[in-house]
Amino acid sequence: MEIKLASTNDFVSKKMISVEKEGKSILIANVNGSYYAIGDICTHMGCNLSDGELIGDTVKCPCHASVFNVKTGEVVKGPARDPEPSYTLKIEGDKIITDI
Ligand code: FES
Repeated sequence: MEIKLASTNDFVSKKMISVEKEGKSILIANVNGSYYAIGDICTHMGCNLSDGELIGDTVKCPCHASVFNVKTGEVVKGPARDPEPSYTLKIEGDKIITDI
């Protein structure tokens, strides 16, 4: 099922946002004009990655500094061990859409 997650207009002053859809917390990041989405809840101890820092194509968790790749959800640096789910996005006009 395709659902609209957000609008590209949500990124005028921010590089990362968090949305709640279908019971999932999803982080969307704008990396140089390309959009990527992964789970927003850190697989280490549950902090919100969207409160962390976007550095290039990675996000650093604000709690214990785990680093995840926003393109793939993979762990770049622990203490987290498990990857985040990653969501494929499609842009239509200003709509950011995914399949959940
Ligand atoms: S909760 Fe994210 S690194 Fe610990």
